[in-house]
Amino acid sequence: MKRTVICTGVILSLGFSGACFAQKSSSLSGADLLEKRCSTCHPSARPKGLKKSAKDWEKTVQRMMGKGAMLSNDEKKVLVDHLSKTYK
Ligand code: HEC
Repeated sequence: MKRTVICTGVILSLGFSGACFAQKSSSLSGADLLEKRCSTCHPSARPKGLKKSAKDWEKTVQRMMGKGAMLSNDEKKVLVDHLSKTYK
């Protein structure tokens, strides 16, 4: 609720809806994104059981997006960041 108010405020004061979307999509943490977006086809344990470099996680997430994983560009960054810090 609070987030919606901030979001509307941004539109009204700046007329810049891009900031609104950025705020919304970055509201999920990397761990949340992993559970919500990466567990629809296989359990989220699948990536969790692996160790990869940041570059390889980027490639993996990009590959999964090609299969149908739903992530915005901002969410992708947050998720790759989380994966490469946690599973390395
Ligand atoms: C649309 C279905 C789908 C979604 C959503 C999905 N995956 Fe996958 N994933 C697959 C399939 C199918 C395989 C096995 C075949 C393959 O590896 O190409 C796989 C395999 C994997 C593997 C093992 C192979 C490798 O490249 O290391 C990892 C890790 C992985 N997925 C991570 C993820 C992550 C992280 C996400 C969230 C961004 C995700 N997946 C979302 C379908 C999906």
